[in-house]
Amino acid sequence: PRILVLASGSGTNLQALIEASRDRDFPGQICAVGCNRPNAFALERAAQAHLETFVVDHTKYESREEFDGALMAEIRRHNPDLVVLAGFMRILTTDFVRALRGQLLNIHPSLLPKYTGLNTHQRALDAGDHLHGVSVHFVTEELDGGPVIAQAEVAVAPDDTAESLAEKVQEKEHILYPIVVRWFCEGRIKLGSDYVLFDGELL
Ligand code: GRF
Repeated sequence: PRILVLASGSGTNLQALIEASRDRDFPGQICAVGCNRPNAFALERAAQAHLETFVVDHTKYESREEFDGALMAEIRRHNPDLVVLAGFMRILTTDFVRALRGQLLNIHPSLLPKYTGLNTHQRALDAGDHLHGVSVHFVTEELDGGPVIAQAEVAVAPDDTAESLAEKVQEKEHILYPIVVRWFCEGRIKLGSDYVLFDGELL
């Protein structure tokens, strides 16, 4: 299956997927990497891996709808089976998400449904949580609200800061995302109406 990755920043999740896809028995290949920022380091990583890249610069579009339309046109050009949001910092319109329903994954640095949105590590610290982590989910119209496929937990230490917590979470991200992408490429996970099916079982 053809995997298209969208990123906005450093692309460490992209890097984890690049490395996983080098494994001969990895059931998918990254067909392109797209960014909404021309200077995203993720583009460097993609170039180093000889992957095709494209930029749809959101500052060049008047509206969210126009940006999403241009992004979707680029995505269609590569004809992916799966679109992976990997640190993609754009809120996508309902039309865009519906067009890719069941083929769009996201990784979010919290144990959803806790802490949708930004600054998740600081919010977990402020709440005095002892457990934090990362979630991989199908993207639906609800921001960070789609059915969760898998989570990985991180213990919060008393001396943790938002930075140290983010580091621990990112380590788990880089393990979890390749596993979930592999499962998707193997046809093991599917999106139901508002649930995930894993090997045909309702998760
Ligand atoms: C990560 O923490 C990820 O959870 C969030 O974006 C951050 C940056 O990801 N979605 P990356 O290093 O650009 O892959």
